[in-house]
Amino acid sequence: MSNDLAMAAQLAGQSLRFGWYFALNRALDWRTGQLSRMGAAPRYKPVGPVPSLQELLASQAQLLMSDALNVRDGLYPPMDDDAASLPGHLARVRQMFADLPNAYARRKQKDASTAGRQPAADGLPGYYAQDFHFQTGGYLTEDSARLYDVQVETLFMGAAGPMRRTALAPIADFMGGRDQRRVRLLDVACGTGRFLRQVRLAYPAMRLAGLDLSRPYLDEARRQLKGLRGAELIEAPAEKMPLGSASVDIVTSIFLFHELPPEVRRSVTAEIARVLKPGGLFVFLDSLQMGDRPGWDGLIEAFPERFHEPYYRHYAIDDLEGMFTVAGLEAELTTTPFLSKLMVRRKR
Ligand SMILES: C[S@@+](CC[C@H](N)C(=O)[O-])C[C@H]1O[C@@H](n2cnc3c(N)ncnc32)[C@H](O)[C@@H]1O
Repeated sequence: MSNDLAMAAQLAGQSLRFGWYFALNRALDWRTGQLSRMGAAPRYKPVGPVPSLQELLASQAQLLMSDALNVRDGLYPPMDDDAASLPGHLARVRQMFADLPNAYARRKQKDASTAGRQPAADGLPGYYAQDFHFQTGGYLTEDSARLYDVQVETLFMGAAGPMRRTALAPIADFMGGRDQRRVRLLDVACGTGRFLRQVRLAYPAMRLAGLDLSRPYLDEARRQLKGLRGAELIEAPAEKMPLGSASVDIVTSIFLFHELPPEVRRSVTAEIARVLKPGGLFVFLDSLQMGDRPGWDGLIEAFPERFHEPYYRHYAIDDLEGMFTVAGLEAELTTTPFLSKLMVRRKR
């Protein structure tokens, strides 16, 4: 496919995808409003400024455009982020709507305890065995793993995948002139494997590993890689990774740090620095922090009010820059694609 055609395919696919998730986002909002009139939790009104819908959509369009330009420039292939069939996807959407009243009732009660009651919670850290985002079962059930991506994409109007893909550009830079067969990439807290799938499509021969504490999410990651060359999937805590020191060339970590208590954030950073080879690449992607986009701070303020995110408020003001530097991860680049923050670091 010519580069212009690849870019056109990417833009067409992204536009359809955006339209679909925008519609789901509005439908979910409408259903949530209905539940709230039935006596569930009231809407939180932030004190800080929030962007208009136009501003949000313009920023999202910019994200999709820069992704398409990277495809045109041959940095990585067009997005193909879901191994599920269309009927499979629609079944997940139906299940998300069916689960909403229960999740909403728990939100009203501020009850985030379904994860802690799962048998799989035994032996896992207390900070982890909670219902992040009031997700039924936390990260510890098959149903949660089935619904996670549809829920996240609906929340972000289809931008979660494109935000993750911004991590592919620094990897492409790093890979210039390297033999992918000799490069080992580890995705820390890989969840359902959506990012690993993008990396695998871009680098069919790279040595890939994903690590996560959730067995059902790792099982879903395995399904997402079906038909492609697999990845080593490791069930372990990010703060104690069963990997040798200086054994990995590239570490990525996407949407993890905002869910960690401050001291665990530091242990995980130290582990990432330990497993990276000198000169290795660390690509971090997570939520925007306070002040990153001054007119958007109200969104950051509202997020943990609407969703169970017990460590997010601290994350939003944490000194990530200082934390990475102390661990020996030196600054290369920081950008803020849409609602996310991308930080590229090199191991000293
Ligand atoms: C918000 S999800 C992000 C998943 C994925 N990176 C993505 O882009 O969608 C957070 C993930 O971190 C995992 N996680 C949280 N704390 C962890 C820890 N201490 N060690 C390993 N995985 C952890 C969860 O199981 C979950 O899959």
